Amino acid sequence: MLIRYKKNFEKIAMGLLSFMPTEKELKKLQISMKQYENEENWQLFLWKEDDIIGIIGISFIDEQNLEIHHICVNPSHRHQGIGKKMVRALKEMLPDKSIVPTEHTKPFFEKCDQDRDDKTHHVE
Ligand SMILES: CC(C)(COP(=O)(O)OP(=O)(O)OC[C@H]1O[C@@H](n2cnc3c(N)ncnc32)[C@H](O)[C@@H]1OP(=O)(O)O)[C@@H](O)C(=O)NCCC(=O)NCCS
Repeated sequence: MLIRYKKNFEKIAMGLLSFMPTEKELKKLQISMKQYENEENWQLFLWKEDDIIGIIGISFIDEQNLEIHHICVNPSHRHQGIGKKMVRALKEMLPDKSIVPTEHTKPFFEKCDQDRDDKTHHVE
């Protein structure tokens, strides 16, 4: 399930965020963490099963629209559908919002849409 970031998750959150190609430099990663901690329109969610194994970070552009800036899954838990579950859970948590990716999360976001469309076709 998705849980809201709290300060005591800082280390695990930074570890997960560092898997983003855009967050390889420690300086950049620290700036991103500060943004999530200090700016109200930036929000970070962790994916918890037995352990915390994924992260998804968003920013509200305005009341109606938000962007996904970061999405990462612990490498030991990849290819098990966690990334897709996080995107689905975010959409379910914010059903009346318009959710778009940034250029850095677009490939996977589109992959999630594509797989959802494939499933729809199977039902038809
Ligand atoms: C992207 C990421 C979150 C996917 O997590 P995951 O839990 O392994 O994803 P799922 O198991 O739900 O889905 C796996 C599918 O997504 C695809 N996929 C993985 N990374 C992808 C990417 N960067 N772009 C597009 N598709 C991607 C896989 O090829 C796989 O496809 P398949 O179902 O046809 O085999 C994970 O690979 C990750 O943390 N990557 C590093 C961070 C990153 O680059 N994030 C931005 C991605 S645009």
